Amino acid sequence: MYDLAEELIQKEKAYVCHCNESETKLQRGGEDGLTPRYRCEHAKQDVDTNLKKFRDMRDGEYAPQTAWLRMKQDIENPNPQMWDIAAYRIPKNQHPHLRTGTKWRVYPTYDFAHCLCDSFEGITHSLCTTEFVLSRESYEWLNQLLVEFQPMQREYGRLKLDGTVMSKRDLRRLVEEKVVRGWDDPRLYTLKGIRRRGVPPAALLAFIYELGVTTALTSINIKRFEQTIRRYLEKTVPRLMLVLDPVRVVIEDAEEQDLDIPFLSKAPKMGSHIIRLTKSIYIDRSDFREVDSKDYFRLAPGKIVGLLHMPYAIKATSFTKDEATGAVTEIKAVFDKDGKKPKTFIQWVPEGSPKAEVRIHTALFKSDRPKSVPGGFINDINPDSETIWPNAVIEAGFYEVRRRAPWPEAEGEKTRECGPESIRFQGMRVAYFACDSDSTDDKIVLNRIVALKEDPGKSS
Ligand SMILES: *[C@@H]1O[C@H](CO)[C@@H](O)[C@H](O)[C@H]1NC(C)=O
Repeated sequence: MYDLAEELIQKEKAYVCHCNESETKLQRGGEDGLTPRYRCEHAKQDVDTNLKKFRDMRDGEYAPQTAWLRMKQDIENPNPQMWDIAAYRIPKNQHPHLRTGTKWRVYPTYDFAHCLCDSFEGITHSLCTTEFVLSRESYEWLNQLLVEFQPMQREYGRLKLDGTVMSKRDLRRLVEEKVVRGWDDPRLYTLKGIRRRGVPPAALLAFIYELGVTTALTSINIKRFEQTIRRYLEKTVPRLMLVLDPVRVVIEDAEEQDLDIPFLSKAPKMGSHIIRLTKSIYIDRSDFREVDSKDYFRLAPGKIVGLLHMPYAIKATSFTKDEATGAVTEIKAVFDKDGKKPKTFIQWVPEGSPKAEVRIHTALFKSDRPKSVPGGFINDINPDSETIWPNAVIEAGFYEVRRRAPWPEAEGEKTRECGPESIRFQGMRVAYFACDSDSTDDKIVLNRIVALKEDPGKSS
């Protein structure tokens, strides 16, 4: 790059200037940019003078900021990137360089180095955000003067998601202040975070295809992101039953039998798995009420509810409670073999099924614009963005889902996914889940990828 800078001087397209900041501003039209633009006297120096001065800059003959190499561009051009911008400077802080130590006192600017390095490296398309649109002209101007291979700079609009922060500086603060579990926390919209959360690569691509590439600054609601993922998972991952907060139900007239359950009834190719029906099963605590009411359609004493995949509905006959905590500990029930089809079916798992820790994440911030909150985004943290269900149970079909991962199966061949996050399934009536990287051979830890519906918590 240094040699190319000398070459630029030889071509009479660069000069060493000694003007300070305020003089330079005047040359460029003054504070409001309305006065006529002009060049300083240094622009008239001949090649030999410029070469000598540039070498003196290099050799430490000038104090920092008393001399700089300027490109000789086109002061009449309406584009400020063409107003004789800097090519080389003597930085104020002469910290030793990571690789070259104190060898160099002069350093190329971004505008000088970027386009040349792209060319050296054979970059065909240099993609950047729209704030560099004006730089395209100086980028091409310099490359055309100095190098053979001409990369193309092209600009696109930045993609932002509402309700989160995306800048590295903000993310780092969340990580360093331990607001989150790390750079790959499932609540962050880093690629690592999105991956750990279990979002399949193809769903992420589908989201980007849907938006298209535009030069406008795009701000997307997270709901739209989640909708795309949900649509993708609906048809591609197996379904299992999972109970977040289990309470035991003893079906007194149940006889042990094996039920053959498809992984996804709409996709028979996915195969099926066996659930061993036992007398004792678990349902979710939220699916039982001690006192019935008319607008309630799940389990209560004397009330009938359907169990997914089960040939008969059950009717609760009695229940017991823990004296100390008041929590229901067990429900007794019988099959309802002659009744009509129940209004609601709930999920269940047999006693003895594998246990799991389930982490349900919601938005990390309370508002849609965390950065606009007084005191900054750190004052907008949602204290309830992570709920842990430590005693969840999941049907044993999970082991086959784990063994056969990645899901979707066909995508796996293309993407070669192999991490725990590629073990995905729908927990029926609950959410889509993926294994977390904290899982071990003995412990299943799950993350919620997305809820089943946009507005969760509303189930009859
Ligand atoms: C810049 O240079 C001009 C001309 O030498 C001088 O009048 C002015 O005080 C300088 N400004 C600063 C900020 O050094």
